[in-house]
Amino acid sequence: MVSFVTGAYILAALLFILALAGLSKHETARRGNQFGMAGMGLALVATLLLVLDRVTEYDSTAGWVGVGIILVAGTVGAVIGIRLARGVEMTGMPELIAMMHSFVGLAAVLVGYNTWIETARLGHGGDAVHDAEVFIGVFIGAVTFTGSVVANLKLSAKMKSAPLTLPGRHLLNLAILIGSVVLLVWFANVDGWVALAPLAIMTVLALVLGFHLVAAIGGGDMPVVVSMLNSYSGWAAAAAGFMLGNDLLIITGALVGSSGAILSYIMCRAMNRSFVSVIAGGFGSDGTVSGEARDYGEHREIQAAEVAELLAGASSVVITPGYGMAVAQAQYPVAEMTKRLREKGVDVRFGIHPVAGRLPGHMNVLLAEAKVPYDIVLEMDEINDDLPDTDVVLVIGANDTVNPAALEEPGSPIAGMPVLEVWNARDVIVFKRSMATGYAGVQNPLFFKDNTQMLFGDAKDKVNEIVAALG
Ligand code: TAP
Repeated sequence: MVSFVTGAYILAALLFILALAGLSKHETARRGNQFGMAGMGLALVATLLLVLDRVTEYDSTAGWVGVGIILVAGTVGAVIGIRLARGVEMTGMPELIAMMHSFVGLAAVLVGYNTWIETARLGHGGDAVHDAEVFIGVFIGAVTFTGSVVANLKLSAKMKSAPLTLPGRHLLNLAILIGSVVLLVWFANVDGWVALAPLAIMTVLALVLGFHLVAAIGGGDMPVVVSMLNSYSGWAAAAAGFMLGNDLLIITGALVGSSGAILSYIMCRAMNRSFVSVIAGGFGSDGTVSGEARDYGEHREIQAAEVAELLAGASSVVITPGYGMAVAQAQYPVAEMTKRLREKGVDVRFGIHPVAGRLPGHMNVLLAEAKVPYDIVLEMDEINDDLPDTDVVLVIGANDTVNPAALEEPGSPIAGMPVLEVWNARDVIVFKRSMATGYAGVQNPLFFKDNTQMLFGDAKDKVNEIVAALG
């Protein structure tokens, strides 16, 4: 049985690697997901068989009760998971993912305590490596837990997205880190139940650190936080794998941890942020931002029928979608409009900002869902240089990602973030419902530029009106 399980674990690990490789491209993402699901299914079955094998060998009542608990908990978890996944809107995915990261963190904390209690109960203390595994696992798990809960609250707008800038906040983080190292030394040098004291104090400190690190990061930088917590949740799982002596959990955790770290790095580069600054809770920024209202002048409005005319007469059109397209579920009419324009000989392409929407790849997923051809969906860096030669740009539900304040206003919360420079096109049409700000809470001077016109209303309704007018 053990060799079967080892083989199944190796196969599952390979499937996880194939899943990551598949997820790196539009065309192969669906297959990547299927590999991931197959790997996870295999891992679950193999682990269950391993548990059953051990319980059958010892044939203890407690063992059989344990199997019963695993089956009941697994079934309840699966039912909740299926209900949540079926019910969640695409726009609610980031919050859901943040919540799932928090579960991984909590699981690592509980596994850590359970492992330690078991060792203490059996009187097997004194193994420094095991002590370090438990301590570090609980630390990473606790930081991930509260950090992810704060990310969930910020992403679901239950907590304000502005950064929490406590006086001496970097010193506080440093003090917690140093305090935790001191507690680790204490933990490793005492035996028996006394060791519970340093473990419990560190847990509280790590919970505070997780809360503080994410609370200190502003709304515009949340994409990096989401991928960073993804990485932390991977390391928390790997730590749980060490504590449980489960190789597959170590491999899977390390894969998630390192791919999350790479994604965070890519996001930081895309947003022109320092990686170290973000993981240290905004270290390096003084927290002073000027998102206050300014008078940019008057904006101009346009109607859907006029936009249809403008588009029919254009030879090149670029569409830059954002979070509002996801809210309105406008991707299907956008795909239809694209098809009709291309049939009329208009060159239509999409420009995707790396942090458009609320998830890495959010817009790509929506456009793929609506069957927009992959070859006309370009990244920001690929399209920015072509914008000055573009006749019309349609900004559909995007705001922060097309905000010139990022380049022109050094005090802005999004200052320094590269954006889609849509204002360089001949005409810009902005689809949104009001003059409200985007996620970062910053006014957008684009709306007041001479070549910009606002098309107010729900993006899906407005694109449908344009499709009808195009005939
Ligand atoms: P946002 O700046 O979030 O702006 C979206 C705009 O869509 C809003 O101004 C809103 O204006 C409009 N909108 C909402 N519902 C609409 C509807 N039904 N019809 C038409 N318009 C609608 O969008 P963005 O440009 O995609 O920027 C993303 C922001 O989210 C960035 O700040 C980014 O840092 C942050 N963020 C991204 C991620 C990832 S990983 N992508 C994760 C967390 C946070 P109205 O209310 O006036 O309609």
